Amino acid sequence: MAIRKIVKLGDDALRKVCKPQEKFNLRLWTLLKDMADTMYQAGGVGLAAPQVGILRRVVVIDCSEEQNHIIELINPEIIWRSEETQCGREGCLSLPGRAGIVTRPRKVRVKAQDRNGKWFELEGEDLLARAICHELDHLDGVLYIDEMERELTPEEIEADNRRAEQESEQ
Ligand code: NI
Repeated sequence: MAIRKIVKLGDDALRKVCKPQEKFNLRLWTLLKDMADTMYQAGGVGLAAPQVGILRRVVVIDCSEEQNHIIELINPEIIWRSEETQCGREGCLSLPGRAGIVTRPRKVRVKAQDRNGKWFELEGEDLLARAICHELDHLDGVLYIDEMERELTPEEIEADNRRAEQESEQ
């Protein structure tokens, strides 16, 4: 188990457009394992490679309650967004202690490669759709604060924390 350091707002890595992942080898699998370990340890529901300083199009997400259902997305692309939207709280492990209100599609369909390079499609709704949008934005140097309607106050965050455990930092 290797925990990598999560870079914070202000680090250049968070503002770069990441390159495609071309090799599906042990190096990638180690990155995926480390990203999962790092995400779980930080209590997040998603993590993108640039958040650990790796400028490649690699994402891990786990929105399951038991935190035992890892989704690995390599070179992902959103191929469909529902017109119906959701408006809710969003945070980011690279911006600890902050949160904002962001509107996202309620459902998205994503095309991605798995750890062996095989293409697959996945549909997500609600929190998973939000996590997919949030993490894919990271691959293009976009952060939720660029898109939020407003930032929550520290008081609102504290009040919200009790009932927002399942919608934790991404
Ligand atoms: Ni994030």
